[in-house]
Amino acid sequence: MTKYKIAVIPGDGIGPEVTASACEVLQAVGRKSGHAFSFTEVMAGGIAIDTCGEPLPKDTLRTARESDAVLLGAVGGPNWDNLPGDARPEAALLGLRKGLGLFANLRLAVLFPELKEASPLRPDLVKDGVDILIVRELTGGIYFGKRGREKKREKLDDGTPKGVEAFDVECYCEAEIERILRVGFNSAMQRRKRLTVVDKANILETSRLWRQVTEKVKTEYPEVDVDFMYVDNASMQLLRRPKDFDVIVTSNMFGDILSDEAGMITGSIGMLPSASLGTPGTPGMYEPVHGSAPDIAGQGIANPLATILSAAMMLRYSLGLPREGAKIEEAVENVLAKGFRTADIVEKKGDAFLGTKEITEKVISEYEKL
Ligand code: IPM
Ligand code: MG
Repeated sequence: MTKYKIAVIPGDGIGPEVTASACEVLQAVGRKSGHAFSFTEVMAGGIAIDTCGEPLPKDTLRTARESDAVLLGAVGGPNWDNLPGDARPEAALLGLRKGLGLFANLRLAVLFPELKEASPLRPDLVKDGVDILIVRELTGGIYFGKRGREKKREKLDDGTPKGVEAFDVECYCEAEIERILRVGFNSAMQRRKRLTVVDKANILETSRLWRQVTEKVKTEYPEVDVDFMYVDNASMQLLRRPKDFDVIVTSNMFGDILSDEAGMITGSIGMLPSASLGTPGTPGMYEPVHGSAPDIAGQGIANPLATILSAAMMLRYSLGLPREGAKIEEAVENVLAKGFRTADIVEKKGDAFLGTKEITEKVISEYEKL
């Protein structure tokens, strides 16, 4: 029997409800597989601002570091929208990513066959399914580059004084590019062996370096079919021919944007899990792609499936229990196949749906049958 230490960060909005569901599922995994999970709950985001005066208390980061994996619900909400940048709930996310060295963010955009109707794309565009893995670089680039403001004395060409100028610097070194590319290539090897490197190499020097490093790394993965695509074109092709994408690897900002677009293609953002990983042996962080949904918080109707599927990724990537992870995924598919839905994924308004607790029980009972 192995004992796994999980740090749980419920966060804000529906975060506490969906993480509670995922923990129940992990407990069921413990009962069935003979392993033990211990959960330590810690604070981050808006609730930490209200309780401790800062979005990411030191204790949270320490507990996270000392665990085998971190399960996060969501952070943020309208109560904290007017705070300055580094005092906002979102700062907790960036702090956790940097503090745990989580440089690789894996975001799945999968169209579940039972939820095909939910896609906003024309049926003929998604009839063959959508299964895209976005590998987003998570601790570098413009989100972590130098930023600031300067009062400028100069004028624009037309003579207008410039006033204050703000800047955010995009910066990537070869080592950062190489390690994220490797995550992309390794993921592609376990999937359909197609890798698209998305960049803006017609303009950006950082993108040119990404291409150069890709040329070097790809020689080690002769089976992977690699192509490069400019980000503006990629955002269009994702809508035109989503089924042609397998793994996309890209920078922090482009990955942020494209993962929302890819998520929307599935029409079921409440279903999408993610994993943020650092170097092997360090704790990964697992969270649903959806946000804190403050409008439905506390009503018991949030969809916990994305968080449950994030726990499945945790079993696979951080806890060395890939078979149990696959069973959780199968259990979720079986629940959908039996027609059970939460409010956000019903086919049409007025259809019956289950609450957070009820659908969690369905997943557990399907899992126990496998
Ligand atoms: C995400 C979010 C975050 C990001 C924000 C909330 C800081 O948009 O996880 O995609 O930009 O990374
Ligand atoms: Mg985002």
